[in-house]
Order: sequence, then C-alpha cells, then structure tokens
Amino acid sequence: MRIGLMTSGGDCPGLNAVIRGAVLHGIKSYDHEFVGFRDGWRGVVEGDIMELPRQSVRGLARQGGTILGTSRTNPFDGPNGGPENIAKVLERHHIDAVVAIGGEGTLAGAKRLADAGLPVVGVPKTIDNDLQATDYTFGFDTAVSIATDAMDRLRTTGESHHRCMVAEVMGRHVGWIALHSGMAAGAHAILIPEFRVHMEQVAEWVREVHDRGRSPLVVVAEGFIPDDRKEAIAGKGTEASGRPRLGGIGEFVTKEIEHITGIETRNTILGHIQRGGAPTGFDRVLATRLGIGAVTMATEKQWGKMCALRGTDLVRVDFSKALDGLKVVPQDRYDEAKVLFGR
Ligand code: F6P
Repeated sequence: MRIGLMTSGGDCPGLNAVIRGAVLHGIKSYDHEFVGFRDGWRGVVEGDIMELPRQSVRGLARQGGTILGTSRTNPFDGPNGGPENIAKVLERHHIDAVVAIGGEGTLAGAKRLADAGLPVVGVPKTIDNDLQATDYTFGFDTAVSIATDAMDRLRTTGESHHRCMVAEVMGRHVGWIALHSGMAAGAHAILIPEFRVHMEQVAEWVREVHDRGRSPLVVVAEGFIPDDRKEAIAGKGTEASGRPRLGGIGEFVTKEIEHITGIETRNTILGHIQRGGAPTGFDRVLATRLGIGAVTMATEKQWGKMCALRGTDLVRVDFSKALDGLKVVPQDRYDEAKVLFGR
C-alpha cells in the first residue's frame, strides 16, 4: 500500500511525531510506502508530493512544526479542487490512502472527500483541545506547559513591582489552554469564551488579591468577551471577519483593570510561542500512537474515520462524531478553577 500523509491548518507540536509513528509502523509492520503532501490540501489538490522513506523520519519525534508544511487551503476550492480531481491525483501518484492530520476544518474537508468515496482516514490535531470525540489532542499539553512556564515568570516580575499581570493565551472558541495553564500557575482570574464575566467582577478579584499583598495574575483566552463590554471591544478584540484578533482582548482587559482599580497592570501576549518548539513527552507519545493507529485503520480500509483517544485507549470514530460541535469547557470544570479566584 502507498499512503499519503498530509498536515493541514495551524501547526502543532507533535505533527512530526505522528508522521514518524505512521511511517515506522507502516514500513515495519506492513511494508507500506509513504509520501507526504506539501502544505496540506494544497499539496493534495496539486499533487505536490515528497517521498517519505524510513530515514526521512529519523529523530522527528522531538522536532516542532511539520516537515510537510501546512496551509489553510480548502480542498474543494479552485479549478483543481473537489473529489474527482483529487481522485485523479491519487491515481497518478499510485496513492491508495490519505491520512489527513488536522483540526476541525481539515477533518470537515476529509469527511466530504470520504463521503464522496475517497480513501481518507484522519488524525485529530489542535493545541486548543476543542475537538469532540477525543479526550485530548496532541499539542495541547505542550501549549499548557509553555503557558504555565510563562506565567510562573510573570508572577516573579509582577511580585517585584506589585503589579497585576495579564497573560493572553490562545483559544479562539474555547478556553482549555487558559483553564489548564491558569490552574497550574495559580491564576487569580481565568477568562474564557465559554463564560461571560463582568469587568467589574474581574477588577474586584484583582483588588482582593492586591489588598492582601500579592501580585494578581489574570489569564485571558483570546476569544473571551466581557459581559459588560461587548460593544466596547467590537473592532478591538476582533478582526473584521468576527474572528478574535490575537492581542486584542489582552490589551483591553489590561486597560480596564488598570482603569477600574488604579493598580499598575501589564499585558503579555503569548501568541504563537504556544505552538512552537519541541512537544512534551505526553504529546510525543500521543502523537506517535495516533500515527500508528491511523496507518492500521488505513490498512484495514476504515475510510471516513479518525483515530482518537478515549481514556488511555485509541478508538476509531466517524468523522461526523468528531465534527459534532466544539468540545467546550463545562461549568463544573470552570467552577473548580474559581476556587483560585480573588480572595
Ligand atoms: O490552532 C488554533 C489556534 O491556535 C487558535 O487558538 C488561534 O486563534 C489560531 O490558531 C491562530 O492561528 P494563525 O496561526 O492562523 O494565526
């Protein structure tokens, strides 16, 4: 069997470990051959491929980014897009299966192609951890570790200057990174898209912490919308498309805290640092296992499914289940974090 691997959407620590796991398992267990499509669906649509022999994956587990490159190309756009053209590309390059490694957008494209009869299986990927039908996505643990380390550092400089420190983390639609890194670092307020909070309330938590001689740490996910400032942040926290703008909300929250409390406040946007560099051990293992699982699925022609993590087990789930809405932070998880807030 000749299998084509592709990585699509925002990059994520662990992508290379998936590629390595897939190639090693496929070659050693089944004598498969591997190619990689360059830059996500663009490479699939244009037939832009590279051979992936065994030596090409040596040492890849610890390497950040993706050796295949990535893009946000839609496989249905343009004159070469769509299932019929892609089927021709696969035929021309003698490719029997495609392993699509990506988040919601990528898997939605993969589903449409599988529904049209193409041999596609999936591997879930996102640092945001917002995909349904999998307990964790690789990249999330790395992002949380990076953010936690950054917050520990913010706390020491904040304490020295008696300042309030605000850290903006990624999380366009969900607040998993903010919740976990905020809990790990002992944040005094965690602001996430799932739950509206008034800025007056945030200011009160900050004041309470400051009053007992500590330096308040506020973590805000990029998609957070303050309950009482919806209009005020329009155009500041979001791009014209309505998508949150990195840095917009952190800046806004920082200014509001300073304005309401009078406490000197500084903003730090962690941005793409959260997606860069080497994956953690947990993410390397999870990504390697998913690569292995996806190749087994392709060998068994389990098209239209993705390999996922349930508990500690790998399971196979239909693309439709994975795409059944975003996995948001539930109320009880947010309530647990609230024990850290304010006083
Ligand atoms: O991978 C998802 C994500 O990390 C979001 O949290 C964030 O909004 C987005 O990627 C940023 O993506 P880009 O690299 O396209 O700016």
